[in-house]
Amino acid sequence: MKTFYLTTPIYYPNARPHVGSAYTTIACDAIARYKRMCGYDVAFLTGTDEHGEKLQRAAEAAGVPPGDLDGLGKFVEKKRDLFQKLWRALGIGPFHDTTSINNHHSQIANHQSATPAPIDYRFVHTSQNPAHEKAVHWMIEQAKKYNLPYCASCDRYLEHGTRPEKCTTCGGNIEHRSAIFSKRYEGRYCIHDEMYVSEGAEPVNCPNCGRPTELISEDNYFFRLSAFQERLLELYERHEKDSSLSPFVQPDFRMNEVKSFVRGGKTLVPGSLRDISVSRRRISWGIPWPGDPEQVVYVWYDALTSYLSGIGFAGDEREPEFDKYWPADVHMIGKDIIRFHAVYWPAFLWAAGLPLPKTIFAHGWIYYEQDKMSKSKGNVVYPEPLVKAFEEFGAPGNDALRYYLLRDTPFGLDGNFSYDGLIQRYNSDLANDLGNLANRTVAMLNRYLSGTVPTVVTDPDIIKQGRFIEARAGDLRKHFAAFDLSNGLEAALAAVGSVNQWLSEYKPWELAQDPKRHKDLENVLYIAADFLNYLAPHVYPTFPHGCDQIWQQLGCEEGIEDQKLDDLKWGQLSPGTKVGEPKPIFPRLKKEKILRKLHELAEQDRDETTKEASSKVESEQKQVASSTVGDESPITNQKSPIANGQSSIVNQQSSIPNADSSKISIDDFAKVDLRVGTVLSAEPIPGATKLLKLQVDIGSDVRQVCAGIAEYYKPEDIVGMKIVLVANLAPRKLRGVESNGMIVAASVGEHGRPVLATFKEEVPNGSRLK
Ligand code: MSP
Repeated sequence: MKTFYLTTPIYYPNARPHVGSAYTTIACDAIARYKRMCGYDVAFLTGTDEHGEKLQRAAEAAGVPPGDLDGLGKFVEKKRDLFQKLWRALGIGPFHDTTSINNHHSQIANHQSATPAPIDYRFVHTSQNPAHEKAVHWMIEQAKKYNLPYCASCDRYLEHGTRPEKCTTCGGNIEHRSAIFSKRYEGRYCIHDEMYVSEGAEPVNCPNCGRPTELISEDNYFFRLSAFQERLLELYERHEKDSSLSPFVQPDFRMNEVKSFVRGGKTLVPGSLRDISVSRRRISWGIPWPGDPEQVVYVWYDALTSYLSGIGFAGDEREPEFDKYWPADVHMIGKDIIRFHAVYWPAFLWAAGLPLPKTIFAHGWIYYEQDKMSKSKGNVVYPEPLVKAFEEFGAPGNDALRYYLLRDTPFGLDGNFSYDGLIQRYNSDLANDLGNLANRTVAMLNRYLSGTVPTVVTDPDIIKQGRFIEARAGDLRKHFAAFDLSNGLEAALAAVGSVNQWLSEYKPWELAQDPKRHKDLENVLYIAADFLNYLAPHVYPTFPHGCDQIWQQLGCEEGIEDQKLDDLKWGQLSPGTKVGEPKPIFPRLKKEKILRKLHELAEQDRDETTKEASSKVESEQKQVASSTVGDESPITNQKSPIANGQSSIVNQQSSIPNADSSKISIDDFAKVDLRVGTVLSAEPIPGATKLLKLQVDIGSDVRQVCAGIAEYYKPEDIVGMKIVLVANLAPRKLRGVESNGMIVAASVGEHGRPVLATFKEEVPNGSRLK
C-alpha cells in the first residue's frame, strides 16, 4: 500500500492552544483523512516542543523556581495535556504516544484487511522522551563526523561528505571542515522565536516577530550552515525542474522568499546563512549536548528531529515504521517557521545522511478580526467554548469550526477569524445549502416513496446531470490533492447549490401530486439522494461528523471513512435501500442568539484562563509593550495613496504648511525618513486584487507594508528587489492588514502605473535617502 506521512509543527506548550494553533492540526487531519480515503496508508504526527528558553521562562513565570527540572517537567506535562485534550475534543486521534523505542506495537503497521489501515496518529513530545533524546544525539554525532571539504583559493566547498585530497578545480589543498565546530558566540537571540538573529552586541529587533532580542555571549557548538548555500539552491531548483517532484516549498511565493533568503547568503538578513550556534550553555532545560553536559542542544535541532523520532527513529535503533514512512510527504507549517524547515532542516538531514522531506507547505496565519491574536489584547479565540456554543443549539460545533477555517481562508494565505464570519458560513453553506438538501431529500423519500431508494435512473437528461456532479467532485479532488482545501470545498458546495436549484426546478413535491409522473418523481429523488451518497465521502475529511450523519440517514451501512474515493461513482446508491429518519444535521442558527452564546462562553472561558495564568499574561504584556514593531502599535485609518495607485510620496506630504504652497523647505523634506530595503516576501491579500503584502528588510527591522501594485508586479518579480520605503509613516490598516510604511514608486501614464524606485548599485539595507 502507498504510504503518506504528514506532520504538523510540534507546538510550544507554554500556553493553551488557540484557534490559530488548531488550524494546522485541523488542516492536516482533513488531508490525512482524505489521503486515507484515496487508498494511502497514512501516518500523522503532531506533538509538543518542550525545551528551550521560552518554556523555561514560561515555567518560571508560573512559579517554577529556576533550575527546578522536575518542576519544569511537571509544568510541560500539564500543558501538553491541554494540547492532547483539545485534539481529542476536536475528534482528532486517538494518538500513540511515542516515548521509547520498540514500545509501539502498532496493529496498524500489520493491518492486512480489505479496508485501508486506520490513520496512524502519533503524538511526540521532546522532553522526558528517551527515544527522542537518542535520536537527537545520533543526529549530532553524525553531523560531527560529516566532512565539508573546503578549498580556500576557490573559496568554495567541494562535494559534501567526501574527503578529496586536492581541489578538483584549482588543484589546491583542501581543508576538511566538520559540520559541527565550537566557537564563541556573541549575538542577539529572540526568545519568542527561539532564533539567532545577529552576531555582535548591537541591539536589533527580531526580523520574524519584531520583538526586542537579548544579548547572548558564550562558548557554543556551531553548525556550518554557510557551507550549504549552493546545495540548498540546487535542491530548490531540482524540485522545480523535475516534474515528478513537488516544489520543495509551497506555495510558490514562499519558495521565492526562501530562495531569495538563501541567495542573499550571509548578507541579506542578520543571522541568515551564517553558521548557527546549536548549543546553549546558559540554560539547563534541554537535551544535554553529547559529550558536553554543560550545554544543551539548540531547541530547533531538537524539535525538528521529532519528525523522525515520532515515527520510531532513535538513531541506530529504528522501528520498521520509520523506514516505511520516512521521508515525510509533507511538513505542514505556518509561514513564520519556513526558514527552520526549508533551510536548517535539509542541512541537518544531509549532515546525518538521511533523505529529505518531499515538500514543505507553509500556510498563512489566522488573525482575529484582522488583528494578531494576543493574550495581552484579550482577543485569543479558543476552540472549546466555540464548539460548545454550537452544540448547545444542537449544531455540530467541530464541523462548523473545521469547515469555516478550511473553507474561508485560501490555504497558504492569511485568513481572518470573526464570529460573524463563522456563523455566516455555517448558516449559508452547511445549514441552508447542504443541510437543507440532505434534510428535504431524506424527508421526501420518506414521505413519497415509503423511505426507500427508487430504481436507478436511465433518463439521459438526468444522467447528464449526474456527470456534471461527478465533474464537480473531480474539481474537489484536484484541489485537495494540491492542498487547496478552500477551493475544493467551494467546488463541492457549488455542486450542492446546483442540485438544490435543480430540485427547485423539478419540484418533486408537485410531481408527487400526479400519479402519472411517479417515474419522474423517482428519478428526481434518486438523483438528489445519489448525489449526497457521492458527495458525503468526498467532503467527509473536512467536516466528518455531519457527513457521517448524512451517510447514515441515506441508509448506507459501511463506514463512510472506509469508502475509497477512487471507487466512488455516480449511480452507486443501491435501489431498495431503506433511508433513515430525516433529522436536521445542520440546524439553522439565529445569528443574535448564537452570537450571544459564543461571547458568553468565550468570556466564561477567558475568566477561568485568566485566573490560572494571570502572572504569565503580565509578563507577556511587559514584553509586548517594549517591542517597537509589536502588536500594540497605533493603527490609523489613514487612506493609503499607494493603495489607490497614486504612489508619489509628494502627495503624501503635500499638507506641510509653507509660505509658497508649491514649495517645501529642506527641513520639511528631512521629516520624511526614506530608507533602502529589500523585499523579503510578497503575497496577495485575499479579497484585495490591487494589494500585495510585503515584508521589507530595512536593516534595523523588517516592516510589513501593503502596496497597491498587485496589478503590475507579480510577487515573485519583486522578492529580493531593493526598494525605497517611507519608514516614518504612521501605521495604518489596508483591507484590515497592518501597513507600516509606504513604498516609493513613480506614477507613470494616464492610469498611474506604479514603477518601483530601485538602485543600480549595491546599497545596504537601512541606508537613508537624503
Ligand atoms: N515549536 C515550534 C515549531 C517546531 S516544528 C519542528 C513553533 N511552535 S509554535 O507553537 O510557536 O507554533 C506552532 C505553529 O502554530 C506554527 O506553525 C505557527 O505558524 C502556528 N500558529 C501560531 N499562531 C497561529 C495563528 N494565529 N494562525 C495560524 N497558525 C499559527 O513554532
